[in-house]
Amino acid sequence: MDSVLTPAFFIGRVPVYGDALLAPMDGFSDWPYRSICRGLGAALCYTEFVKAEFVGMAFEPMQPRLAFEEDERPVVIQLYGNDPDELLRAALRVQQKRPDAIDINLGCPDRRVNQGGAGAALLRQPLKVARIFRKLSAVLDVPLTAKIRLGWDDCRNYRLIARILEENGAAAIAVHARTREQGYGGAADWDALAEVKAAVRIPVIGNGDVRTVADIERMKSHTGCEAVMIGRAAIGHPWIFARLDRHQVPPEAVRQIIHRHLQRNLQFYGERKGLLWFRKHALQYLKSQNIPRPVRTQILQQTEARAFLERLDAAFSPLL
Ligand SMILES: Cc1cc2nc3c(=O)[nH]c(=O)nc-3n(C[C@H](O)[C@H](O)[C@H](O)COP(=O)(O)O)c2cc1C
Repeated sequence: MDSVLTPAFFIGRVPVYGDALLAPMDGFSDWPYRSICRGLGAALCYTEFVKAEFVGMAFEPMQPRLAFEEDERPVVIQLYGNDPDELLRAALRVQQKRPDAIDINLGCPDRRVNQGGAGAALLRQPLKVARIFRKLSAVLDVPLTAKIRLGWDDCRNYRLIARILEENGAAAIAVHARTREQGYGGAADWDALAEVKAAVRIPVIGNGDVRTVADIERMKSHTGCEAVMIGRAAIGHPWIFARLDRHQVPPEAVRQIIHRHLQRNLQFYGERKGLLWFRKHALQYLKSQNIPRPVRTQILQQTEARAFLERLDAAFSPLL
């Protein structure tokens, strides 16, 4: 109840009412999925990242990735890039959409992103980070935030980067508690999150290995972070934002959310792509249901939404 009345924290002047945020996830955190997560209590969502260069040149296929609805605010648009001028051009263009904040990705470990000096590769260029944030924060009128990792490899320069970000105008920092080298494996280092929290005054959002409802409080009390960001554990399980673990969600609720999520996918992407791009979500929703594997496979192989939903309902009926 308190979180409805009192903001958990602010990003610049933007109040955030709650402490569990949906992570930016390429291929997942689009409008249909974000709207589902917001509906279940995610306090704030990030878009999938978009390459600054594409935004700057108004590359049309990027538009769906930048789209959001008024009722999902607060929403953060995430950009990646290496060139301060390119990032500024992109941020100014994106700002016209009035997102609640613009985030720069300093954490992506993907080789193609890193080759251009973007994502986690920026952690190796602290001066460049300072230039980017100084330049953008001086001009933007929406808050500028960053999402970082602990470092590139064994050079764990997260405290330095966090201070540079704060001194150069960042309004909040999300920290994925792994190095680039760790990718998505190995344990996230929550002690490092506590160190970042102690090093800066702006809000710190902890990220990495929040898998259960209990983990949300555990990470907050271990680190002192204002909020936690949840990625993989929310795929197929947006109820984590409603503070429910997988085993606590009745099959009927899962069935209904699959219907709603698919409907929004069809609305957003059209019939063909909408179903095609829903499959990866469906797979994760169905994972925890007691549905025989061949039946699951049959559902996922459907090429028309109506047939997909008919098979789905038939598979759920013995569970209800
Ligand atoms: C499929 C996938 C796509 C991701 N895409 C992005 C992205 O676009 N931008 C970003 O900053 N992080 C991205 N991440 C990283 C997540 O935001 C998050 O930092 C990471 O998954 C660790 O959190 P978790 O342990 O809760 O999953 C992605 C992660 C996954 C699994």
